[in-house]
Amino acid sequence: MRKLMILAMALIIAPLMAQESAGNIVHHYAARNFIAGNINKSRLDTVLMAGVNAPSAMNRQPWRFTVMQDIKLVKQIISDAKDGNILIVVSTDSKASNEARAVLDCGLAVQSMYLAAQALGLGSRIYTGPIAAINGRFKNELPAGYTAVALVRIGLVEKTDAVTAASSRKSINEIVTYK
Ligand SMILES: Cc1cc2nc3c(=O)[nH]c(=O)nc-3n(C[C@H](O)[C@H](O)[C@H](O)COP(=O)(O)O)c2cc1C
Repeated sequence: MRKLMILAMALIIAPLMAQESAGNIVHHYAARNFIAGNINKSRLDTVLMAGVNAPSAMNRQPWRFTVMQDIKLVKQIISDAKDGNILIVVSTDSKASNEARAVLDCGLAVQSMYLAAQALGLGSRIYTGPIAAINGRFKNELPAGYTAVALVRIGLVEKTDAVTAASSRKSINEIVTYK
């Protein structure tokens, strides 16, 4: 009986679990309708760990994450922010901020946190629009010598179907070439 259960686990449940985690990556959407409410610390920590563990060229991890929780500050950066929304600003050493590699690495950390937040049932959205302002009048919020690349906004959302909520995409035939 025990052997049968282990076999069922290997043949049915494990592939289903793998499908489920791939599903979280395939199906996501940039949240539009955030609602007020606090994100608990353990979910925030998990999102941050997804960023910490992101891959980077030569494993240089050229990023710093600034977690903006002060709602007055958050609303100055994203005017329609809701109470409890958190901004995670990803910055890199200013000297490297023009290097495609460093910017790509930061983008991967951003994407990892964006996806992790949604896998946890939170809403998330990536922004570059406010980056000029962050590198300008909010520069003091960043670690000294660092330049912001992008930010991830996380917060509570009403439960939404990620398949229909996402904007349309180009077709796979338009994008993928097999040789
Ligand atoms: C690098 C990057 C920068 C973005 N900047 C902004 C932004 O400044 N403001 C905004 O509202 N959305 C921004 N977005 C969100 C995109 O508009 C959104 O991910 C895209 O349109 C797909 O939408 P969907 O998730 O509804 O399918 C950004 C996304 C990325 C990846």
